[in-house]
Amino acid sequence: MQSYTLNVNGQNRVVISDPDTPLLYILRNDLGLKGTKYGCGSEQCGVCKVIVDDQAVPTCKLPVENVEGLAITTIEGLGSPEGLSHLQQAFIEAQAFQCGYCTPGMILTAQALFKRSRYPQDQEIRSALEKNLCRCGTYDRVRRAIKLAVGRPDGSPGFQVQEDKTTTLRDGNLPGILQQYPNLDSWLQINRDGTITVHTGKVELGQGIKTALAVIVAEELDVSVERIRVAPTDSSYSPDEGLTVSSMSLETTGEALRWAAAEARHAMLSVAYEELEAPLERLQVSDGTILDPVSGKSTDYWQLFGEQPFGRQVTGAAAPKPADSYALQGKSNQRLDAADKVSGQTTFVQDLMLPGMVHGRVLRSAAQSARLASFNKCQVHDIPGLLKVVQDGSFLGVICAEEFQAVHAVKQLEHAVQWDSEKTLPHPDQIEVHLRNHTGQSFLVEDGTGIIGPIPPIEMPAGAAQTLTGTYFRPFQMHASLAPSAAVALMEAGSLTLWVHSQGVYPIRSAVARVLDLSIDQVRVIHMESSGCYGHNGADDAALDAALLARALPGQPVSVKWTREDEHTWEPYAPAMRVQLQASLDSDGKVIAWNHDLWSYPHFGRSHSGNGTSGLLAAWQLAEPYARPTPQPILSSHVGSHRNADPLYSFHNKRIVKHFVPESPFRTSSLRGLGAFANVFAIESFMDELAHAAGIDTFEFRLNHLDDERARSVLQAAAKVIGWNNRKGMGIAFARYKNRQSYAAVAVELKVDTSSGEINLERAVIAADAGQIVSADGLSNQLEGGFTQSASWTLNEEVKFNHDGITSRDWGSYPIMNFTQAPRVATILINRPGAPFLGAGEAAQGPTPAAIANAVYAAAGIRLRNIPFTPEKVLSAQNKR
Ligand code: FES
Repeated sequence: MQSYTLNVNGQNRVVISDPDTPLLYILRNDLGLKGTKYGCGSEQCGVCKVIVDDQAVPTCKLPVENVEGLAITTIEGLGSPEGLSHLQQAFIEAQAFQCGYCTPGMILTAQALFKRSRYPQDQEIRSALEKNLCRCGTYDRVRRAIKLAVGRPDGSPGFQVQEDKTTTLRDGNLPGILQQYPNLDSWLQINRDGTITVHTGKVELGQGIKTALAVIVAEELDVSVERIRVAPTDSSYSPDEGLTVSSMSLETTGEALRWAAAEARHAMLSVAYEELEAPLERLQVSDGTILDPVSGKSTDYWQLFGEQPFGRQVTGAAAPKPADSYALQGKSNQRLDAADKVSGQTTFVQDLMLPGMVHGRVLRSAAQSARLASFNKCQVHDIPGLLKVVQDGSFLGVICAEEFQAVHAVKQLEHAVQWDSEKTLPHPDQIEVHLRNHTGQSFLVEDGTGIIGPIPPIEMPAGAAQTLTGTYFRPFQMHASLAPSAAVALMEAGSLTLWVHSQGVYPIRSAVARVLDLSIDQVRVIHMESSGCYGHNGADDAALDAALLARALPGQPVSVKWTREDEHTWEPYAPAMRVQLQASLDSDGKVIAWNHDLWSYPHFGRSHSGNGTSGLLAAWQLAEPYARPTPQPILSSHVGSHRNADPLYSFHNKRIVKHFVPESPFRTSSLRGLGAFANVFAIESFMDELAHAAGIDTFEFRLNHLDDERARSVLQAAAKVIGWNNRKGMGIAFARYKNRQSYAAVAVELKVDTSSGEINLERAVIAADAGQIVSADGLSNQLEGGFTQSASWTLNEEVKFNHDGITSRDWGSYPIMNFTQAPRVATILINRPGAPFLGAGEAAQGPTPAAIANAVYAAAGIRLRNIPFTPEKVLSAQNKR
């Protein structure tokens, strides 16, 4: 150990460290500067960047001894929430973040760029930030923020709102969750300090749900959004709203809070009416102050109900406001967490520090089927800082006093173990065949719902002028969250407290309690933020890992972080899918028969358990293991693999069949959009093929089969803004998510480099109708991010493996879209005041791959049906033409 004097944010700081300890660990753990993040440990993602002598550099491998005497600037040195830098403010103005995990690295890299270029052009920005990954897909917003910061803003904010008042309004029914939790105090609390606390079982995943819910409450209560505090979701007091999934939070919780806030307003005005001795209808509310304009007397919410329970139920008797009185909804609202995100102040679960906290790591193999064959304990007994080695069957972990000691310890552990692996994986080129050959059950899908019964054969309709077929494929893909999963656990006096980034505190509470043989009352789960998860990633598994280690060291909180390799290897993947379509056209170019057969591995592998099974990874590795749940087909409306298999088009003679394939070579579960990604990719690509066969403009062809006016509107809006004229290199696609949530049309313009096979996205336009808009900027951000992520899946992503296991174990072997690939994105939002909220977080996932495939066809005359559209596949398709 040696002493080093570091110049950090203009101050000299003395630290004692091994010379090879990476600067990242010194900044985070010795100096408490948590704005510098751990992401990959191999200088590939950019989240750990700081500025060293005017250069933005990654710190995850940078030895502390190399930076002594150099000027180091971290995000905390750039500005704080009380005094943000110009660049940080521009990031807020452009809302250039979602989860915010990548944001400090992005900002510091841009700041270093300004030293070299005062007015950077788009191309300079793209190449300077090429090694800063953002899995939420905010690249174009970051570009706009940087342009804004240097006083050269783009002409438009990237999105525009159009209003349409012709829509059916909400039905006035109370949402179901209020029947389960009718007590107003379960949802809202008035505080004496002039704030209002909102309770919800939904969790912040980077999607901005806390701000959206705060806007709804603030609107109904006539207070500023800044007065709203959304409490962390905690199994000790939050309503049990299950999982935060499926773009349902506004439709369920947003609607519930709208009614709850209306009830609260009515309750407070009723008391004010007596206190002010004024008729109820005369009272006016402004930012929580209740005024009788005649007498001039006033009171406020905080005096009336500060720290007092309402003691009443939400019955629906107090009607929420009409939409034409909205002052906040439909506009842009700054995110409540904006200043914290851009200044590195958000405490992610990876940043949590507790008194006496120690650090754990778990060792796993690259092969998902591997079992621990042998472990030589003698090789690990003298590791510095080692507190405990925990082994239970094939579950093997270490606990150390310091984090970097745990990193070292788990590496040494690797040399002390041997794994046995059954080599049962199919050949990587044979997944389509594997899907077809391993069908468990098949179901007809009618009106979006699976039906048990005989499967009719495909029949040729009378009057068919031409019949086309097409087969489309989506490989296994990853959530690939930018932050590897993590959790903190404390076992104390027989009870367990868990800090997790799970999608639901109640489901993970019961799943972990079961494995540890605790009652659910003995487990408390507190949600903390992490980077965006986009579905069921490794969060729940990290929670059980932490719990198992904490059980071995009672009384001390144990922080467990997965590595990048762990996350890539062990997270539940999006299942591979194969879709086969056949359709017939009549002589007028109308579809007269439509057949859709899909094969998919399960989309549900959640942690819920029962009958001696568990969905949690470590539970399968214990000496007395839990069995994996047997995958079951789920037939409800638009769930799992048949989500959006039933198109919104007015086709007659639809035959849609779901082939459920229970035995996947890899662990699979829900990734944003579930089956909608592959189904809409296939449907909307095939619509293009049919249109070309019929000799009809592909945009017109869609309109010819679309009766739904809202669907037509988003298609027309996207076509108008992109300048649709069936031009070379343009593609368009459409879907309504689950046929009942948001409408979205995506149009793209691209170029295909016929010598390299590269597809270069130039610009994208997304037009969406999510009903009543809550926060326009937040909605646009979700759609842009959804597009960018889906474009990344389409162009780049496929889990690679060989007989020894997963070979996609870092960002080099599983590349995602980076800044240089990201196009300009514009969004058109059609606001429908008073209409129901429609979930939009997954609306762009399905249309995006088809818009790209259709644009590639328009640009180069090649039809790509097999994701990802790599340069090799483009060149191969060209050669076959
Ligand atoms: Fe970039 Fe989430 S905002 S990873």
